[in-house]
Amino acid sequence: MTAFTGRDIIAVSDLSREDIRAILDRAAAFDRARRAGERLRLLDGSILATLFYEPSTRTRLSFESAMLRLGGHVVSVAEARTSSSAAKGETLADTARTVSAYADVIVIRHPAVGSARELAQAAPVPVINAGDGTGEHPTQALLDLYTIERERGRLDGLRIGLVGDLKNGRTVHSLAQALAHWQVSFVFVAPPPLRMPEDITAWLRARGIEVEESGDLAAAAQACDVLYITRIQRERFEDPEEYVRLKGSYVVDRALVEGARPGITIMHPLPRVDEIAPDVDLLPNAAYFRQVESGVAVRMALLAMVLGAV
Ligand code: NCD
Repeated sequence: MTAFTGRDIIAVSDLSREDIRAILDRAAAFDRARRAGERLRLLDGSILATLFYEPSTRTRLSFESAMLRLGGHVVSVAEARTSSSAAKGETLADTARTVSAYADVIVIRHPAVGSARELAQAAPVPVINAGDGTGEHPTQALLDLYTIERERGRLDGLRIGLVGDLKNGRTVHSLAQALAHWQVSFVFVAPPPLRMPEDITAWLRARGIEVEESGDLAAAAQACDVLYITRIQRERFEDPEEYVRLKGSYVVDRALVEGARPGITIMHPLPRVDEIAPDVDLLPNAAYFRQVESGVAVRMALLAMVLGAV
């Protein structure tokens, strides 16, 4: 038993700075072990259930890969919205009780804000939020911190630009709050209808964190150490025409990176649509595929910790 055993990971606010440090350090240890070709059997005999009510490539596969790399097993309903009993009208609470009989830990992604918390309240096993609508995506924030620290060597003292759909993007909601444990400053670059929710911006400022809101991506690129780009979240728009109007608002291309602060780190949670031109991929600044790789180690850490194996 450790301080993490049995805990749910639903929102960044569930985690202290010490908790985050412990997760990142554990992830680094797993990363080293994996690179050294070690096979870890820490979760031998344990079962993870993944319940995805929204599309996913990286989050679901990296959780499942993480579980398998620790010697555990996975049961999964990939398209839970149509293929699970949710399609018959089952409540999340009943699903929680049921799946807890089959698995030792549950990872859920769902379109409704608050759904992961609702499931967690009814599930006797630990629940990890893999994205609740426009709410939060705390495990993405953890792998983003891990990536920033690896790319930059530190978290303190950085100026971070968050770009794109800051209103609907759950990754940036979680990342901004997680970074607030360190001495950072922010530049938020979004079209006016897609600004960061006021409650998050106000919360950051109340903690003494400088937040600048800007419409000028090139200026932000010159001012920031890290530029974190996000997709305009098409599926969150009520009016498809508004999406068409706003998509392509901010595009990072090679010329922008070449005119940016030297050594700038370019990140993206992926999937991208057209907000980073493919010719950026070859630049050393492009960290988004390294970011993907970090997902497995961070999720290995989370699974091993909530299951009390480390
Ligand atoms: C993100 C998500 O699902 O919130 N993807 C991810 O998990 N890496 C970002 C997005 O969909 O734009």
